[in-house]
Amino acid sequence: MTKYWNEMIQHRLQSFAEAGLKRELRPVRQVCQPVLVYQGKQLLNFSSNNYLGLAGHPEIIAAEKEAAERGAGGVASRLIIGHDEAIEELEYELARFQDKEAALVFANGYMANVGILSAFLGRHDAVFSDRLNHASIVDGIRLSGAVHYRYHHGDLNHLELQLKKAEQKGIKRRLIVTDSVFSMDGDVAPLKEIIFLKEKYGAALMIDEAHAGGVFGEEGQGMAHQLGIHGQVDLHMGTFSKAFGVYGAYIAGKKEWIQYLVHTCRSLIYTTALPPTVVGGIRKALKLVQNGNELRQMLAEKSQYVRRELREAGLDIGSSSTQIIPIVLGDERTTLAFSEKLLACGILSVAIRPPTVPKGSARIRLSIMANHEWDDLRKAVHVIKEIAKELEVI
Ligand SMILES: Cc1ncc(COP(=O)(O)O)c(C=O)c1O
Repeated sequence: MTKYWNEMIQHRLQSFAEAGLKRELRPVRQVCQPVLVYQGKQLLNFSSNNYLGLAGHPEIIAAEKEAAERGAGGVASRLIIGHDEAIEELEYELARFQDKEAALVFANGYMANVGILSAFLGRHDAVFSDRLNHASIVDGIRLSGAVHYRYHHGDLNHLELQLKKAEQKGIKRRLIVTDSVFSMDGDVAPLKEIIFLKEKYGAALMIDEAHAGGVFGEEGQGMAHQLGIHGQVDLHMGTFSKAFGVYGAYIAGKKEWIQYLVHTCRSLIYTTALPPTVVGGIRKALKLVQNGNELRQMLAEKSQYVRRELREAGLDIGSSSTQIIPIVLGDERTTLAFSEKLLACGILSVAIRPPTVPKGSARIRLSIMANHEWDDLRKAVHVIKEIAKELEVI
């Protein structure tokens, strides 16, 4: 009898719609480009994580085609026979890239975080996690059963208080985990200060550089390199799905810690390896990222322009200092109306609502690409200001 399921599903869908929380999957074309096509209409794309524009790069696409000669699929778990030589070479390259002893590649960032956190943490351990960390971190912690201390966003006093509490409880293994650049706010974790606390309380530190990899650091290694504190980070997680323009993720750290994951990490052991095409694409993307200073410079300048314009217009863009720029509106319906008006004006920037962000902080999330045209950015800024006036947000 599916009647009870149907009732529940219909009821929940109706409540989502009534609360302004309806979600839709939009079929688009030219998804890798700064201008994409939706329902036959050209739209300026401010909704992708393709920050350096590499997802459409001909050299990456050519590398994927070449790698396809080795086969279409990953064929088995890496622990069985899916460990293509190219994956091993990529892991050496990544370890070097991050100045770490070893690295391990995962299917994607979600699986990396869920698997890594649940492998390292158990119910006798304590984990300290920024309240705005990505859902995959939260899910990994939940799965681990560890004592979960969620500290207020970027709040070092709160973090320290919780570290003290865990110490008083006698919990010996403590892990601090934080995004370096926050995915929905575009602000940066106070990593130097977190390192100070990590040392003071004898904790380990894992950072998620999903949105900083490729964008920050002299060779695009991420925010830890940019700040010169990468040597003190125990576990460095990064994704290839954002600035690298491909797919997949990795963790870099001490050799033994990586070996431990090979023995214990269920999202590595019980899943098929990445296919050769993706691995080939990632290896080419890594080279382009390492030589990508010009792209990083362009992205930084364009992001700074948009942040300055929106802030000066009186919009609330929080503490964004990166290519991710939220326009925090609070109310879900206003946010939805804002995004629909943007769409009508040829701009795709979707409404981000709870539970993706905390209640009362619904927002438009703009993400800038290095290859956005200046004229398009100027047009977008103008349109955003006009809509904000129309909706009486400014
Ligand atoms: C901070 C952060 N970590 C991890 C992920 C997951 O990465 P992936 O898209 O590769 O699964 C995301 C993606 O949205 C993210 O924003």
